Amino acid sequence: MSNLMEVINQLYSTHSATREELKELILCNDKKVLDYLKKLAVKVRESVYGKDIYLRGLIEFTNYCKNDCYYCGIRKSNKNAIRYRLTKEEILDCCKEGYELGFRTFVLQGGEDSYYSCEKICDIVRSIKSSYPDCAVTLSIGEKERSEYQAYFDAGADRYLLRHETADETHYKKLHPPKMSLAHRKQCLYHLKEIGYQVGCGFMVGSPYQTVDHLVSDLLFIKELEPEMVGIGPFISHKDTPFANCENGTEELTVKLLSIIRLLLPNCLLPATTALGTIDPFGREHGIEAGGNVLMPNLSPTAVRKKYMLYDNKICTGDESAQCRQCTELRMEKIGYQVVTDRGDFKRS
Ligand code: 5AD
Ligand code: FES
Repeated sequence: MSNLMEVINQLYSTHSATREELKELILCNDKKVLDYLKKLAVKVRESVYGKDIYLRGLIEFTNYCKNDCYYCGIRKSNKNAIRYRLTKEEILDCCKEGYELGFRTFVLQGGEDSYYSCEKICDIVRSIKSSYPDCAVTLSIGEKERSEYQAYFDAGADRYLLRHETADETHYKKLHPPKMSLAHRKQCLYHLKEIGYQVGCGFMVGSPYQTVDHLVSDLLFIKELEPEMVGIGPFISHKDTPFANCENGTEELTVKLLSIIRLLLPNCLLPATTALGTIDPFGREHGIEAGGNVLMPNLSPTAVRKKYMLYDNKICTGDESAQCRQCTELRMEKIGYQVVTDRGDFKRS
């Protein structure tokens, strides 16, 4: 255990650890060690971002998807999913409402839906950027050709989220149909970096067949890629997928990994995700208290929220959630953090 305290100190001062050290830390259940890990993660977070919480307004604009990932509720084969697409006007309405509520980043997230051609996405991005020049636009629309990523960037997109899902090739194959590959996913992430996006990767915690060694590989991949953002959340089963009967990931492990990621990449933008808030009523608070600094409240029209069900029991999909901004702000105040009206860019040091 004293050895693990040393590992944490070293993570804090050098932002690195070996495969063996990371594995031991992930396996550790000693409360003293975990409290120390969290304490240093929060210290680092506060030295870079203070007590500020950055908000991202999430606009889930299509749940059509050509992919068939085994874990995902909007996979192509799910015939029970009620499909929808938002028009450009509907998307702009979400931004208008979001802007008035103080959001300065809009995240356009959707399945891989070829209805939205490169030109359509560029047109939407250009419209948002011309109406709200002080806002950042983040895209989260999957794997594309490098030239498409370049076109979105030239149209004004600032950031791109593409979780790598797992950094282990064998594990990747167990989560995805044969035509998807980890190599291509990684290639996309490197293209996005080269183009100049602020890039986000990430993975699910406790996904089926995941081992501790896979998690260590995830951490080492993240360290190698050096993304500006890292999105992690617990796997939560969805009743209409092949993984319907699989166990969910845990809050404890997710929170522990958030702290380790904060120490590995001190400046990263690290959300306490909706999935974390779904497995525990105070999951997002706990994520922030472990080193997170971003929240991504839902800005999608309430009429479609229940249709963007990646996993069962997703929070913020009922009528009560029309104003996630206020809810989020209050929740953060209660734990001593302040939501800010800011683009919330990555801070280099
Ligand atoms: N549980 C948790 N997260 C999920 N995602 C997709 N399906 C699930 C699920 N069942 C995550 C994936 C994806 C992101 C948009 O949502 O990591 O990249
Ligand atoms: Fe959506 Fe609380 S953040 S209802």
